[in-house]
Amino acid sequence: MMKITTKNIRLLSAAAVTILALAACSSEKKAEGAAAGPTETQEDIIKTSSAGLPQGRIAEGEALAKSQTGPTKQACIECHGMDGAAPTDPTYPVLAGQYADYMAHSLVAYREGQRKNAVMGGQAGHLNDQDIADLSAYFASRPAKLSNLSKGYE
Ligand code: HEC
Repeated sequence: MMKITTKNIRLLSAAAVTILALAACSSEKKAEGAAAGPTETQEDIIKTSSAGLPQGRIAEGEALAKSQTGPTKQACIECHGMDGAAPTDPTYPVLAGQYADYMAHSLVAYREGQRKNAVMGGQAGHLNDQDIADLSAYFASRPAKLSNLSKGYE
């Protein structure tokens, strides 16, 4: 049994620091390794990515948002309100001023069935990539009713 002396305590704490440092390095390595090859989850993300969508066109998006197309013959603004800023039901999200890439990602996910919602699945099912980019550009361009934490809690 080792005698507890100041020197031993110093040695032990030095050893503990080394072990912790090594542990930190190896977990960093693991994280790097995970990023290298696509896993199933990453493939899912790639499938629903909005990264490869064409450039969104605001005017075309506005026209589409107001038109009663698709299988349900309902316009986006019938539920999300004028400019996506005044939803007709409190459970419907505000779209005005939302990030375009977030909306595009959501619409791709609804279309692909990755994000499941009975209402929006039906709304997004027939949209092509250009439609999604246009609609997202339009709603993102509307004055924001949304707040973020930079404004603090209100
Ligand atoms: C019948 C009503 C209705 C119509 C029409 C409709 N939506 Fe929605 N939308 C909803 C509801 C309800 C949700 C919330 C669904 C959920 O919880 O995932 C939603 C969610 C969304 C979201 C995700 C928002 C977020 O914050 O995550 C987007 C983007 C969106 N809608 C865009 C559209 C677009 C574009 C159209 C037209 C092509 C459209 N919606 C038509 C009811 C509707």
